[in-house]
Amino acid sequence: MTSQLSNSPGGFPSRGRTRVAVYPGSFDPVTNGHVDIIERGLRLFDRIIVAILVNMEKSPLFTVQERVDIAREVFRGYPSVEVDTFNGLLVDYVERRKADVIVRGLRALSDFEVEFQMALMNRRLSPQIETVFMMPAEQYTYISSRVIKEVFALGGRVSGLVPDTVEARLRDKQRLREPQTAGERQDL
Ligand code: PNS
Repeated sequence: MTSQLSNSPGGFPSRGRTRVAVYPGSFDPVTNGHVDIIERGLRLFDRIIVAILVNMEKSPLFTVQERVDIAREVFRGYPSVEVDTFNGLLVDYVERRKADVIVRGLRALSDFEVEFQMALMNRRLSPQIETVFMMPAEQYTYISSRVIKEVFALGGRVSGLVPDTVEARLRDKQRLREPQTAGERQDL
C-alpha cells in the first residue's frame, strides 16, 4: 500500500497522481491574500489553475482580459500556476480541466455561510470534487478586492496589500477616469 504512495510538493501522499486544484473567483483584482492562498496551495497541489469567472452580474473595475493579464503577470514566476477563465458552472469547468479540488480562501466567520452553501451545492452537483478551504496569513484576513478598490478610490494607501503591478494598474485606471471628470467639469 505505502509503496504506491509518492510524495507531492508538500510531502502529502498523492498516490502517484498529479493533484490539480482550481482556485476560482472574480479576482477584480488579485490581492496579496490571493497570492498567499496560492503559495499555501502549492504545498498541497502539483498545479493550481486560477479560474476567473467571465459571466459576472456585478460590474467589475477591470475587464476579464485585464484581470487575466494582471494575474498572469503576478504569477509569472510560478510555473505550476495557470491563469484561465471560465463560464457557467464551476464544477463543469473543474471536470473539463481534469482537476478534483476547488480551493477557496476563508478569511473570517462571515465568509463561512456563503462558502459553505457554495461548497455543498458544488458537492451535490459533482460529488467527486472536494472543496478545500485555506486560511490566508493573519495580515490578509481583513482584505478583499472590494475593500482594496474602495480604499484606493478614496485616496487610501493599499501598498503591501496588493502586488505592485496591481497598484500600478489601479493608478492607471484612476488616471483614465480623471480627465473625463475634468472634461465634464469644464463643460458646465
Ligand atoms: O471571488 P468570488 O466572487 O467570491 O467568486 C465566486 C465564484 C466565481 C467562485 C462563484 O460565483 C462561482 O463559482 N460561480 C460559477 C457559477 C456556479 O458554479 N455556481 C454554483 C455554485 S453555488
